[in-house]
Amino acid sequence: MSEKKILIFYGTRFGATEGVAGKIAELARENGLQAEVYNLEDLPSDKIPDFNNYDGILIGSSIKIGQWTKGVKKFVGNYKNQLNSFKGKKGFYVCSGYAANPDSYEKVKVEYTKDATEKLGVFIDHYDAFGGLMDFTESSKMGWLEKKLLKIVTQQSTGEKIEGDSYTDLRDWDQIENFALEFFKIL
Ligand SMILES: Cc1cc2nc3c(=O)[nH]c(=O)nc-3n(C[C@H](O)[C@H](O)[C@H](O)COP(=O)(O)O)c2cc1C
Repeated sequence: MSEKKILIFYGTRFGATEGVAGKIAELARENGLQAEVYNLEDLPSDKIPDFNNYDGILIGSSIKIGQWTKGVKKFVGNYKNQLNSFKGKKGFYVCSGYAANPDSYEKVKVEYTKDATEKLGVFIDHYDAFGGLMDFTESSKMGWLEKKLLKIVTQQSTGEKIEGDSYTDLRDWDQIENFALEFFKIL
């Protein structure tokens, strides 16, 4: 039997969502699947592969002020019918500050994935929300205003006051692995 093939598309601003896409692709390969990963922020439409050649699709987005990235928004809106043709085999995840807080996790998980895709007419089968990357160091991709806003989000998520140049990875890699393995099972 030939190996099953999955597509992973992601949109990131500061790197957390990209890291998750890479990890899921690695897990897919370890589990005997083929995986291709595409960054939606710089993917010309003629480079989007023919969906007919794949068994499943996963899309990941960064969240900023409640919104996906531009690339993810455009992709989901433009490829609605093709995405829905992956019946029972499409997943969506986000990396979000509020996902790391047990009190807001369930809410953001549904709001940023299932509800947001349904608003665009796309019906996903598997979804989750992971925590983000809180990088306040000098090498961070965030500007000062973004750092300031993220400090507020992080404080609300964790209850901890963020001081100085800290770096905290709030992604739960066991949660990410479980999400991936459950997705592989439905293919
Ligand atoms: C300016 C700004 C606004 C943010 N707004 C939200 C938000 O509305 N909800 C949320 O859950 N997380 C929010 N976050 C946290 C991000 O979701 C988190 O940093 C995540 O890691 C972003 O994914 P990325 O690193 O792939 O871009 C915000 C972060 C920044 C810098």
